[in-house]
Amino acid sequence: MKMPDHQPWNPTSWQTRPVRQQPVYRDPVALADAVAKLSSLPPIVVSWEIERLRGELAAAQRGERFLLQGGDCAESFDDCESSTITKRLKILLQMSLVLTHGLKKPVIRVGRMGGQYAKPRSTDTETRDGVTLPSYRGDIVNHAEFTPEAREPDPQLLLRGYERAALTINFVRALIDGGFADLHHPEYWDLGFVGCSPFKAQYARIVASVADGLEFFESISAKEVHQALRAEFYASHEALILHYEQAQTRFIPRQSRWYNLSTHMPWIGMRTTQIDGAHVEYCRGISNPVGVKIGSGMDASWLQRLVTTLNPQNIPGKLVFIHRYGADDIESGLPKAIQAVKATGHSVLWICDPMHGNTETSQSGLKTRRFDNILRELELAGLIHQSLGSNLGGVHVELTGEDVTECTGGARGLTDVDLQRAYKSTVDPRLNYEQALELSLMIAERNRAPRRGE
Ligand code: PEP
Ligand code: CO
Repeated sequence: MKMPDHQPWNPTSWQTRPVRQQPVYRDPVALADAVAKLSSLPPIVVSWEIERLRGELAAAQRGERFLLQGGDCAESFDDCESSTITKRLKILLQMSLVLTHGLKKPVIRVGRMGGQYAKPRSTDTETRDGVTLPSYRGDIVNHAEFTPEAREPDPQLLLRGYERAALTINFVRALIDGGFADLHHPEYWDLGFVGCSPFKAQYARIVASVADGLEFFESISAKEVHQALRAEFYASHEALILHYEQAQTRFIPRQSRWYNLSTHMPWIGMRTTQIDGAHVEYCRGISNPVGVKIGSGMDASWLQRLVTTLNPQNIPGKLVFIHRYGADDIESGLPKAIQAVKATGHSVLWICDPMHGNTETSQSGLKTRRFDNILRELELAGLIHQSLGSNLGGVHVELTGEDVTECTGGARGLTDVDLQRAYKSTVDPRLNYEQALELSLMIAERNRAPRRGE
């Protein structure tokens, strides 16, 4: 059999491959109309931003930068409103500031936002009381309500998704350009949880040190930090619904290459990483940096073929392996994966998603994740990379800027009982504002270089 990666590629060549996780649109004409319309609309991002991100990811691969990728498991169309977007952006920027301070390297900020509207599902249909309907696949596909009308995949939602994504990115760009005056200054952060933490003293020291650093910077540059340092921010989403991705894929003559201009960095989810599958086929032809979720069950040859198919020329910053083994399995899975990639002679940027391998069901039946397991996986990830001479170049987290109770643990010691109070996710449990900030403080604390005299 001919290797799939040696065949010609175009934005629709994925349609010749086995494809998973796609909605069944009943009206092919309506689908073709929506795709044609989407193909004619202007892009959400541009190729030089994508190239800049690739350059920064190449630096992260060399250990000179650190990637923070985070946001909701799934965005919903209703969440496309100013306060939710502002809060999500704020927590990501605040985390990045703490991480920059602790790791002493620039942090690349990539949101799971502006297009994260589709979800893979374990089954194509859902049955309730003897009625079977298509599964809900995210707002860009159908509606969550359990009625035949709501669950029917609607191609017009591809256009509504594009519009919401564009509105979100437009607002994010404006916020970033204008700067959040209160963003950089810890005196405006919600740090009440610090008092509840056993690491109270360490956290207080980091926060004070961030504040001092900023004050010093502002006093010598005579500018507020957000005016002096533009905080670049990039968008990412799971490239799941391939008609959407295809329609926003453009050939840029100046670069002489194809780009997916719906987002800076698409990623391939765990359920769609088959080498001969449609998602890998689509992603191998675009010039964007591409993420791939890596986990238990993917053997050495699978990982190696992903590397050589998705980045045959070994371009730095092009391929990001996002490993998500779970705290219990990372020690058996990750070392083999690192060795397998090394054996190809190619490089990837390794980042750790400590969320998706640590999902469990609480006693009350809610999906949850324990803060301790999230931390444990992250710590093990760092140790394993170090012991193999590899580099953990980033972290991928699901979080929200709101005060939800979806993950247990953290400084406030949230328990299963607390989950009832403010559980809002319809998909995966997210770190809340405090837990997300605490996670970054903890990473900063654990990675801090010893001070003189210590
Ligand atoms: C996700 O990132 O929300 C997700 C579904 O992850 P994975 O593909 O790793 O299961
Ligand atoms: Co998720």
